[in-house]
Amino acid sequence: MPPPHDNDDDNIPQSSHSRDDFGQPFTDSVINATGPRAAPRTRALLSSLIQHIHDFARENALTVDEWMAGVDLINQAGRMSTDRRNETQLLCDILGLESLVDSITFSSSSSSTPPTASAILGPFWRKDAPRLDMGASIVQPGSVESDEHTHVYGTVTDYATGEAVEGAQLDVWQTAPNGLYEQQDEGQPDMNLRGRFTTGRDGRYSMYCLRPTSYPIPHDGPGGKLLRALDRHPMRPAHIHFIVTVPAYQPIITQIFDRRDPYISNDAVFAVKDSLVVDFQPLEGDPNAQFELLYNFKLAKVADTGQQESSEKKPTEVGSGV
Ligand code: BEZ
Ligand code: FE
Repeated sequence: MPPPHDNDDDNIPQSSHSRDDFGQPFTDSVINATGPRAAPRTRALLSSLIQHIHDFARENALTVDEWMAGVDLINQAGRMSTDRRNETQLLCDILGLESLVDSITFSSSSSSTPPTASAILGPFWRKDAPRLDMGASIVQPGSVESDEHTHVYGTVTDYATGEAVEGAQLDVWQTAPNGLYEQQDEGQPDMNLRGRFTTGRDGRYSMYCLRPTSYPIPHDGPGGKLLRALDRHPMRPAHIHFIVTVPAYQPIITQIFDRRDPYISNDAVFAVKDSLVVDFQPLEGDPNAQFELLYNFKLAKVADTGQQESSEKKPTEVGSGV
């Protein structure tokens, strides 16, 4: 294979650091080894990454054994990752990285009635969830034993004008009461507890699901090893996931969380935001549900945020099921 650069010897940048000195001049020589054809964003990100990991190694006097333990953990996560399980994303979640990147990407508005806040996607979203009629249940008949069925309903509106948003798709998913998403659980039918609903002209939506339960993130692999090393628990507070999309609006990937959950202030993946904490109310007189929740989604026009339109942004399909 030809070398990536075709510069002749005269053009090869010479390293200025002494080969016995692994301080900042060494780091500079690694950063400066980046060739002229590297894309600007790649150059910026990788230069910063090199600087930070070199500083990390120097500040902590990192040993070869410690570095190899980290490499082994990442290798194990890679080997364990499949189309049903994204263990490397899980490691990032445990370290708070997905929540941090989410907050940087979707920084909140200063408006007194801001758009609905985002929350991490997590590794269990699946594309092509069943399209369901308004008012249907995502709980497939006979799939779970529960006396906590919940009617969730509300509106999707433009946060700036308050106008109803027609044609908004709500993609919803949650675990069964055993804490497992259907792709983790052979006992559940395919696509159980998942569905997509589309608002009509009034911007309203209505669906049935389960009152969610807290559950442990998978902890039988490298993610669990990391949690044990940090003396941490694996539990997530009860939540329901939503992705709300409609052309011309910024999509919202989010979760709503049950205020009464014991882990509400102690999420293993640091995803809870105050504005996403909700109160499920007991419901009487509905043969299909024992609880109800009114939750309104507010969307921002792409033009209001300067960000990409929904059709261009798709959740990653890596690790997101069959
Ligand atoms: C989830 O909410 O589905 C999730 C998020 C992060 C890690 C594991 C699961
Ligand atoms: Fe979840």
